[in-house]
Amino acid sequence: MTRKVELAIVGDVHLAFGPADVRTLDAHGYDAILFVGDLSGYGEAGGLEVARVIATLRTPAFVIPGNHDAVHVSQLGAEVLESDRVVDALERVPAVRSQEQRVEALARALRAETGRGAILGGYSRHRLEPTDAPPIDLVIGRPHSMGGPRLAFRPYLARAFGVHDLAASADRLDAVLRECTAERVVVLAHNGPLGLGARKTDMFGCDFRASEGDFGDPDLRDALDRARARGQQIAAVVAGHMHHRVRGGGKRPMQRELDGTLIVNAARVPRVITRQGRELRHHVRLTLEADGRVHAEEVLAPSDA
Ligand SMILES: [Fe+2]
Repeated sequence: MTRKVELAIVGDVHLAFGPADVRTLDAHGYDAILFVGDLSGYGEAGGLEVARVIATLRTPAFVIPGNHDAVHVSQLGAEVLESDRVVDALERVPAVRSQEQRVEALARALRAETGRGAILGGYSRHRLEPTDAPPIDLVIGRPHSMGGPRLAFRPYLARAFGVHDLAASADRLDAVLRECTAERVVVLAHNGPLGLGARKTDMFGCDFRASEGDFGDPDLRDALDRARARGQQIAAVVAGHMHHRVRGGGKRPMQRELDGTLIVNAARVPRVITRQGRELRHHVRLTLEADGRVHAEEVLAPSDA
């Protein structure tokens, strides 16, 4: 008999992930744990520390790098300023280690010495093989996304993946989606797709400009539209990046449906909160029922459970 499959989605960690998370996530018996990225704060060391904790999970785990992961703080600054001149100039500063080296260091920290550990992906396809349920293809999207109409971390994406612009990124995502043969496909991205609203309280709306705007990823949306046009069903897209609390007030929705695909924004930041003297740790449970239904619920697990 086919059973339901349950995946844990961990939103932007920003340094908040510890042994208590490993205990509760492993104890639940999830089929896999998906990290939407931004393990780090504003430096590389913190992200590597988090990665070493993630590596101790017994449950299969997958990570997409966020815009805070495996990047130098000056690189992040240049991307925030949207200055191509500074972005390119930093590539020529020998003191700044290359993004390839940083990504490799993160991937290494995520791999446990036991040989288990988590997988760091990007424009990649992975097979989830739950027992007593059909396999699921997991597609990991564009790494280091910052959202919006500009391709962040272009020099690295060009060198590592041949992606020079958002159109090339859409082609690359489309190629990975076409490789999928499983009936069910889940996409893990750092930021969600374009088209879910242009207000700052929308799921991937911009709250750092007075003009607001839709800061969903256009390349991801393009690839999803192409999949739908050829009849490929995507069960869910799980992402984060746009934190649940909106600047100036309000909260973003955690989930929405888009053309038959469930879109989840798991970025509750901070993900560890204290309520009535009790520390609670957030993740989202994504359930793929045997009959094809897909649904998501927020979980606040007590640290002392
Ligand atoms: Fe982010």
